[in-house]
Amino acid sequence: MSPWPSTLHAWKGDRHLWLEHCFKEYGDKVRVAPDTVLFRSPTAYRDIYGSRANVRRADFYDALKREENQYSTITYMDNASHHKSRRLLDLAFTNKSLRASADFMQQHIDRWHELLTIDSGDDWTPPFNFTDRVNFLVFDILGDICYGKSFRTMEPGENSFKAIPRAAVRLTTVLYAIAKSPFLHLVIYLRPRGLSRLFRAIRPKQIVVFDDFVDSSIEQRIAREITARSSAEARQDMFHFIYNAKDNETGEAAFRDERLVAECRLLVIAGSDSTSVTLSGLFFYLSHYTQALNSLRNEITNTFGMAEDIAPGSKLLSCKYLRAAIDEAMRMSPAGLSELPRQVLPGGTEIDGEYFPENTIVGTAAWCDGFNDQVYGDAAVYRPERWLVDDTNSAEDVSRIRANFHPFGIGPHNCAGTNFALQELMLVVAKTVHRFDFRLASEWAKGAGLRHRRVIGGKEVPQFQLQDAYITVRDGPILQFRRRHI
Ligand code: HEM
Repeated sequence: MSPWPSTLHAWKGDRHLWLEHCFKEYGDKVRVAPDTVLFRSPTAYRDIYGSRANVRRADFYDALKREENQYSTITYMDNASHHKSRRLLDLAFTNKSLRASADFMQQHIDRWHELLTIDSGDDWTPPFNFTDRVNFLVFDILGDICYGKSFRTMEPGENSFKAIPRAAVRLTTVLYAIAKSPFLHLVIYLRPRGLSRLFRAIRPKQIVVFDDFVDSSIEQRIAREITARSSAEARQDMFHFIYNAKDNETGEAAFRDERLVAECRLLVIAGSDSTSVTLSGLFFYLSHYTQALNSLRNEITNTFGMAEDIAPGSKLLSCKYLRAAIDEAMRMSPAGLSELPRQVLPGGTEIDGEYFPENTIVGTAAWCDGFNDQVYGDAAVYRPERWLVDDTNSAEDVSRIRANFHPFGIGPHNCAGTNFALQELMLVVAKTVHRFDFRLASEWAKGAGLRHRRVIGGKEVPQFQLQDAYITVRDGPILQFRRRHI
């Protein structure tokens, strides 16, 4: 009857928990606002996000745009324009560019490791907030690959860019609350009528500095690309592949001028936060589930004698427990907690056998899907083994839960950077687990960390608490690391 409960929970950041409660209370289909119906089933997921769905990205995405005229692949809402833009963007995500990006990833991961224990020698490091540290790593990798310059946030000392990941989260939190409110269409109406100028004027100082840095880095990167005498001489980063992508229909460069800048910006935004939340969730759960950490470490150290040997390729892909540990973290700490909203197009659409008319907003929420006991049985438990076929877990069991698990989305709007993200996650996790022991800082575990719990059947289990803001807002865990000697 009212949009306000949904709006209120978006403001509070606990909308995912409210949705979970709604599904428990009312079943797998809930009308959470007058125009919005959300679902909790693998078949509804396929009906909404699959390539045959008669839907488009909802107007919600319009409010997340920084400028009304700033278009990148994720902000095209009509399907035809999105399809064209996505086809061009995919030209930059080839096996060649993936292989080339591995060198950049490796350099940053190695430097990150060097810095983790730089002052502590063989002892445990002082406690640090893993979310901040891992934000810096991922942010530096993507800056280097997409803008041609690292932000150097992981380096010690003052650096104004260190505040960027958290400032960007704060900005998105406000935009999300607006986008989920009944004021959404008013905001969209007012943007070209002065509101965008106001938003620009009140940008936090850090974001202004960051925007200027991105603009000047891209300018310099373009100059470097132009002066490279051959493709082999050029810096083989993601920028190189985006800059040189050619539209095979027109023979023209796929991205130039503002579109080039917008796509490079999109990659850093889409790629950094999502990868970072997965790593925070994974290290939270590994530091609580010793058995899982041991199984993971055994697999990595049995496959690779030294951390320096870890590289993308068949050996890394053979590490099935590693992939399962990452999948399990993405299930329990998804990169977006609530629905990715889709708006039904003229002619309506069928979801789980039921007709929904034009303009209905529909979706499924990753948090609720991930903690659905009907699918997982023991959804609150971190158990990577559930993704592996063994004596107690059949191939059918695994494919049944896989049908409910889509961390990178499916269909035309799925994640363009899936392989890139998986390569980065596997490298970071494998090398870190090989080189370091880590543990929860005891003060945190006995203090602030206590709120990361959930009571299931009268028993407390660890659960990484997250805040919903379209992106996933997180803090912690507070960890200590120690170099391993083998
Ligand atoms: C664990 C890491 C990641 C996860 C879980 C993830 C997940 C997703 C999801 C669910 C979407 C659809 C969003 C929506 O419809 O609103 C998406 C879109 C996208 N992602 Fe990722 N992503 C990850 C990492 C990355 C990385 C590393 C990159 C690039 C370097 C990237 C690039 C993109 C792009 C360009 C889109 C927009 C695609 C389109 O509109 O067609 N992602 N991602």
